[in-house]
Amino acid sequence: MTERTFPEGFVWGAATASYQIEGAVKAGGRGASIWDTFSHTAGKIVGGDTGDVATDHYHRVDEDSDLIASLGLNAYRFSIAWPRIQPDGTGPANAAGIAFYDRLVDNLLARGVAPAATLYHWDLPQALEDKGGWPERDTALRFAQYAALVHAALHDRVSMWSTLNEPWCSAFLGYASGVHAPGRQDPAASLAAAHHLMLGHGLATRAMRADARDGETFGITLNLSPVLVDNDSDRDAARVMDGLQNRIFLDPILRGGYAPDVIDVTQGITDWAFLHDGDEEIIGEPIDWLGVNYYSPMRVAADAESEGSPAYPGSAGVAILEPRGPLTDMQWEVYPQGIADLLTRLSAEYRVPLFITENGAAYPDVLRADGTVADAERVAYLEGHLSAVRDAIERGADVRGYFAWSLMDNFEWAHGFAKRFGIVYVDYETLERHPKDSARWYSRVAQTNRLP
Ligand code: FCB
Repeated sequence: MTERTFPEGFVWGAATASYQIEGAVKAGGRGASIWDTFSHTAGKIVGGDTGDVATDHYHRVDEDSDLIASLGLNAYRFSIAWPRIQPDGTGPANAAGIAFYDRLVDNLLARGVAPAATLYHWDLPQALEDKGGWPERDTALRFAQYAALVHAALHDRVSMWSTLNEPWCSAFLGYASGVHAPGRQDPAASLAAAHHLMLGHGLATRAMRADARDGETFGITLNLSPVLVDNDSDRDAARVMDGLQNRIFLDPILRGGYAPDVIDVTQGITDWAFLHDGDEEIIGEPIDWLGVNYYSPMRVAADAESEGSPAYPGSAGVAILEPRGPLTDMQWEVYPQGIADLLTRLSAEYRVPLFITENGAAYPDVLRADGTVADAERVAYLEGHLSAVRDAIERGADVRGYFAWSLMDNFEWAHGFAKRFGIVYVDYETLERHPKDSARWYSRVAQTNRLP
């Protein structure tokens, strides 16, 4: 590896998620997901936006496959909409749902792009939420059955499988703070949800591995953040937040069980009766790689008065501090050092091959009359973070690839279409795609395997 290059065989991709881009929410017998219900509930999404049309990827899958190939990427990370495969969360696979992903996968392979499939990026069938959702143990069993169906249909062509995207968000934004679907505010239920998501991950991994061909790999994607403090006296507060953001998932998945301090800080909220004998063994089913989604760090301080954050049950006594500039359009702090620190720590403490499955930034892009978008800030964000990733690799972190978030502007959950994360601009009036300057820059990186 010379100064600006990446290891040979490095995976260069871009990422999307089903509900954020597909639209066509009734096509091919697709059932409703919790995000359909949530986005159609008044007051939940900025601007009243929904994913009904999104970027209409469902109808533009051929054009979008060409777009991915034209950027010279060697991989594409997408997610599969559970309610397209099992409209009400149970039963056999819906042929029309499978056919859509068949087409996407065939398109990608025909263009020399490796498909990286995520089984769950937040669109739980509404019928399963009606039965209790992730706080119910049965949802984990359902998820494993769904995973096995998708795997059986696609594993002759898909090698890279991720069970879940960011279970932290599903559990704590979905069931504790309620800013994401299904919008419940029940801290005890959110901890049960986190556990059942991981149980589903372990069961699904087992089911798929039992039927895998050579070369298939299985992983999970977590949103992880380094926790920063200004003073030594804030170290205990940082440990609490590191527990509730990072280790609550990392330890069971990669070390065979929950850390006692994480159970301790949540004792007053739940009795952990959802944790059954044998669960930690299932959750600890070996994985081939860990997907890391990194955007920004968390800054905290000890604060005896603080009731804690609604999204972090057990965080009483800790204050989350304001981010420090420069900030993106999400008001997220730009801190490239964070990705290097995280990758170094994960490699040292958890000894697992790593992919960056998401990294990127929202900025208020402007489409010019000539169809170009000059997003210099996004180029700077990507360059800063990729150069930090390179540093981490040089210091010994085992990083195998990088997926930019996102291939294209899309439905940014509670923010609707107001935040643009794409390296490709989407004109929501015409649905035309326009590669931004960042797409051209990133394409060069992918094709040369080095930073310019
Ligand atoms: C992550 C999500 C992804 C996108 C980015 C900005 O938390 O996985 O869908 O919304 O944030």
